[in-house]
Amino acid sequence: MPSDPSPVNSDTLIEIDHVTFGYDASRTILNDVSLSFARGKVTAILGGSGCGKTTLLRLIGGVHAATKGTVRFDGEVVDPRNAEALFKLRRRLGMLFQFGALFTDLTVFENVAFPLREHTALSDEMIRDIVLMKLNAVGLRGAAPLRISQVSGGMARRVALARAISLDPEVIMYDEPFAGLDPISMGVAANLIRTLNDTTGATSLMVSHDVQECFAICDHAYLLSSQGRVVAHGTPAELNASEHPEVRQFIRGEPDGPVRFHYPAKPLAEELGLRA
Ligand SMILES: Nc1ncnc2c1ncn2[C@@H]1O[C@H](COP(=O)(O)OP(=O)(O)OP(=O)(O)O)[C@@H](O)[C@H]1O
Ligand SMILES: [Mg+2]
Repeated sequence: MPSDPSPVNSDTLIEIDHVTFGYDASRTILNDVSLSFARGKVTAILGGSGCGKTTLLRLIGGVHAATKGTVRFDGEVVDPRNAEALFKLRRRLGMLFQFGALFTDLTVFENVAFPLREHTALSDEMIRDIVLMKLNAVGLRGAAPLRISQVSGGMARRVALARAISLDPEVIMYDEPFAGLDPISMGVAANLIRTLNDTTGATSLMVSHDVQECFAICDHAYLLSSQGRVVAHGTPAELNASEHPEVRQFIRGEPDGPVRFHYPAKPLAEELGLRA
């Protein structure tokens, strides 16, 4: 047994340590969660809509500060008040946003070039080569001159992916990479995430409610409950074999089980002013 009690080991790149967070004091979104993300691996964060998955990515990116607990990146505590450290951290992170966040009036090429122009002093020629390489990696080199308004939703996701990897980030965070994709594009996107992870040596975090697509490519997965707690984690095989009712409900997509469908609200009769 190792005698060092430190939870951080060199295989861990990002550590969420007993983190509690709410956007306001009235509601806790993440409730004492601990997760760790291993270097060079693909880790999935699964959970129903509104359970706090995107929120967790925001805490890693230093957008918000945890109410309790710490987020560590490569051993250093992420502190949203330290602008200089945050800038350095974000240079190491690539983010595929849930809602694309592309510039719709710019071309595919210019969207991917944007972070390179913002963060580097590379020549136009170098930027051109990098952009074309990144677009090639997602199969869209031929679409470089198109405006975003001229590409399909699935193509736009791939443009966003090319932009997320434009600065060769050490960590790529994918927020719902499969949302709105047809089954074939979904498989393509999943393979792309795995291939990019393995060829660039990056560490990948993938947030999704698409269990089977995630399980096909991830090394490890965490399942968050609607109360913002970690219900279970393990390899896809371990989670598939789990007897835990919430894990089973989520993995099999069963409508009945411990997970509730409704966002917290007053009883409907009360809201409508009806008397029981
Ligand atoms: N900026 C914000 N201010 C206040 N509340 C927020 C904010 N962003 C999210 N929330 C609330 O926090 C909760 C978690 O939101 P979050 O976006 O993290 O969920 P999610 O797990 O990513 O859901 P989905 O799968 O639908 O994307 C939700 O109840 C949401 O209403
Ligand atoms: Mg989300």
